[in-house]
Amino acid sequence: MEKFVVTGMENGLRGRVQISGSKNAVLPILAACLLTQDICEIRNVPPLLDVEHMAELLCAMGAKVDFDKEKEIVTVQAEEIAQAEGNYEAAGKMRASFLAAGALLGRCGQARLPLPGGCQIGSRPVDLHLKGFQIMGAKNRQEHGMVELTAKNLKGGEIYLDFPSVGATENIMLAAVLAKGKTVIQNAAAEPEISDLADFLRKMGAEIEGDGTDTITITGVRELHGAVHTVIPDRIEAGTFMTAAAITGGDILLEHAKEEHLKPVIAKLAECNVKTENTEDGLRVYRKGKLHPIQLKTMPYPGFPTDMQAQFMSLMAVAKGTSVITETVFENRFMHAGELQRMGADIKIDSRSAVIEGVEGLTGAKVRATDLRAGAALILSALAAKGDTEISDIYHIERGYHQIDEKLRQLGAEIRREEE
Ligand code: EPU
Repeated sequence: MEKFVVTGMENGLRGRVQISGSKNAVLPILAACLLTQDICEIRNVPPLLDVEHMAELLCAMGAKVDFDKEKEIVTVQAEEIAQAEGNYEAAGKMRASFLAAGALLGRCGQARLPLPGGCQIGSRPVDLHLKGFQIMGAKNRQEHGMVELTAKNLKGGEIYLDFPSVGATENIMLAAVLAKGKTVIQNAAAEPEISDLADFLRKMGAEIEGDGTDTITITGVRELHGAVHTVIPDRIEAGTFMTAAAITGGDILLEHAKEEHLKPVIAKLAECNVKTENTEDGLRVYRKGKLHPIQLKTMPYPGFPTDMQAQFMSLMAVAKGTSVITETVFENRFMHAGELQRMGADIKIDSRSAVIEGVEGLTGAKVRATDLRAGAALILSALAAKGDTEISDIYHIERGYHQIDEKLRQLGAEIRREEE
């Protein structure tokens, strides 16, 4: 087990940082590779543990997968699906493995996967995924923690999602591209990762319209072919570095970040008195004056992303005045608040809201990363705190950030990795 030891900075972060490919875009794209016998080549793939787990899952199903971590390219060929099932070993390691369900249903008419359990941030059911499959003619049976899906003739249908779930939208798209007829997803998620999946599927020969809006229409085709695709930059990694520049009073340039995907983050940073400029070389983020307190509410895209909520709580903890954060997407995503309190933050949680009274300064402490974004928030607080902070359970952080310590060091941070 490793931990990060971070020494608080006197001066802000400075320099350039390269943003990697998006974790949450690449996972459904890898699942989509199961939809064809041909070779698919996916570029700009971040070498993260979650990607390796998805690759292992595809291998266990009979696909040939090669992950060149240096070049950040994954090639997949699922010439045959040996078994349309993921065992606990391979699939139990991450929730996103359930995205293989839609692709397997589309390709083989059946799928068997472990029901993803709850996690630190909420119960995270998959009822909306299953409702979509059911409308498309699939039967589902749950036994011993496994979901078994079968569909003799998968057909299109009209599916209204009670909530614009990212995973349900992706899973239904994956099933619908090879189903008979037209599928319409209403109240669909509009996240950039959905459009990236749609772009890849279209390159494979799928017919999809309306991605990026709340109504997605998919017309099933007989078969799909191989394709080459470059994954979009990770907007949450970019947002995390932007917040790091903000909290330290730094001035950094993000290479390969997409401004259009970061509008809600940029707007909220501006309210905090943090400036952003889109330059030819990348996105410049800097702060000169004091941080201002703000109110924010997490929402499905294009609202403020729940995956940036923890990092903003760190920022609010040192912004003079009272800030309020309301989390509407996940029911239990304030685990970081308790850890931030150890560092001297003044935060009160009342159900889905957090009231943050900005303090003069934070102090280093021993804290624990409880989940991916909570861990990132702790690194940001540690950069702004006085003294050393030890962050344990950093495997959570490394599930979603490629070489975060290395990238921060390049920007002048003192962060090292030690054995626990
Ligand atoms: N929900 C249901 N039923 C469902 C599906 C979702 O009630 O069938 C609820 C969830 O419990 C949650 C809300 O709907 O309260 C949103 O869940 P959603 O399905 O949109 O999230 P997800 O697909 O499970 C993805 C990202 C998350 C990100 C959310 C929201 C991936 C692999 N994960 O999860 O990323 O927070 O969308 O934007 O794409 C992260 O990267 O740290 C992370 C947690």
